[in-house]
Order: sequence, then C-alpha cells, then structure tokens
Amino acid sequence: MKQCIAIDGPAGSGKSTMARLLAEKLGYLYIDTGAMYRALTAYFLANGVHYTDTQVLEKTLRKLLIEFIERNDTVEIKLEGNPMGEEIRSPQVDEHVSSVARIPEVRTYLRQLQRKLALSRPSVTEGRDIGTVILPDADLKIFLTASPTVRANRRFQQNKEKGLDTQYDTVLQNILERDSIDSTRKDAPLKKAKDAITVDTSSLSIDEVLGVLIDLVREERPWYGDISRKCKTGEQRNGNW
Ligand code: CDP
Repeated sequence: MKQCIAIDGPAGSGKSTMARLLAEKLGYLYIDTGAMYRALTAYFLANGVHYTDTQVLEKTLRKLLIEFIERNDTVEIKLEGNPMGEEIRSPQVDEHVSSVARIPEVRTYLRQLQRKLALSRPSVTEGRDIGTVILPDADLKIFLTASPTVRANRRFQQNKEKGLDTQYDTVLQNILERDSIDSTRKDAPLKKAKDAITVDTSSLSIDEVLGVLIDLVREERPWYGDISRKCKTGEQRNGNW
C-alpha cells in the first residue's frame, strides 16, 4: 500500500476534490499546498503588502507567524494567529495567486514546511510541484488533467454554488492565465514528473476517478494508457467537481 501520494495538475483538473476524497478514504493526511499560496496572497492583499518588492517581501516573510495545524486529517492554516477560511478562494486571490507563487522567496519559504508536513505521516499532497520538487520520492505520483473548458466549467459551477457572481469567460480567462504563469515560471513550474501517471478527468465522474486512484494506491493497476477507455461511460458529467 502506497503511503506518500503526490497529486499535481492545472487549475480545475479535480486535484482538490480527488486528493481530499482519497485521503479520507485511506485515513491519510490531506495537504492542499495551493491553499498555502492562497493564504499568503490573501494576507498580502488584505495588508497592502507590495509583494513584488523583494525587500518588503523578505521582511514580511521573516516576521510572519505562519502555522499549519493538523485537524481531522486536514491542515488548518493560521496567519498571525488567524485561521484562514473561504477568503483564500476569492476572485481577487485567484487573480494574484500565481504572481505570488512564482516568486522564488515565497516558494523557498513554503517548501520545507510542505515537505515536513507531507513526510510526517501517510499523506496525500496536492499542488503543482509535488511530484517534481516537494516529494520527488513519492510512492505514487498522479498528474490530473482535463480540457480548459471542462476545468473552467467546473470552477464556474463551484463559484455559483458558493453564491459568487462570476462570468464563465472570466473564469476561463483566469484559468488560462494561471496555467501559463504556473507552467512557464523558472522555479518549480507546473510539470508532470517523469514517473507520474496521467489521469484525464474530462469525461470521468468523481467516483470513476476515485476508483482509479484507489486501485493505483493498492497497486492493482500498475499503469494505464488511457484511463477513460477503461470506464464504461461516454457521458460527460462535470458537475459537482
Ligand atoms: O484550486 P486551483 O487548482 O484553482 O488552485 P490551487 O491548487 O488552489 O493553487 C492556486 C495557485 O497556487 C496556483 O495557480 C499556483 O500558482 C500556486 N501553486 C503553486 O505554485 N504550487 C503549488 N504546489 C500549489 C499551488
């Protein structure tokens, strides 16, 4: 049974949903590294920190009290003693987070904390650079993908459920922009690790993907060429991601 699991992929590919469900199913710790970049971004925006100014950024990071607290197999993030909640998922944070995450000082700051947490017990860690940089020796590496329109549609639906009034085109634009910044940055770009298994979730349901991942954890499916062909549904079911 695999105990150190890395899930990477672009925005809206289903990483958070799948990593959370997989961790729950296995009783592992669920680690959302994107939430850490989002929490820092929300803090910078709320406190008017000019994060592009290296001196300001370094001074802020030196002083900042950041805590990752394990609670019910997930990680609560506290900044300056304040728990970070839904504000980290705002459209404003969506707009800035990739610009914050591309800064090497920010990545160095979070890297050790993420690694330590992930190696502390059996875990499912999701992000952009988990299989390549944070956990290069992970027991199982998954690269989740889906077409940009499917991903935008999922995020649009999620926003709607949360009562956020966003336009589909704006969501798609943001996803494409983040994909571009995330995959072209110098430090730890979004990239499939050589030994990662790609799972295209475009036409798969949540349960189908979960089934595939559980089999992979249990080593029952050592490798898949095209996972979608193994599942007996041609139907596109992209709601509730
Ligand atoms: O949930 P969604 O896929 O929209 O994004 P996320 O996982 O919450 O990550 C938000 C942003 O943080 C990404 O667009 C990346 O810019 C950054 N990120 C990163 O650079 N490295 C990670 N390991 C995780 C997130």
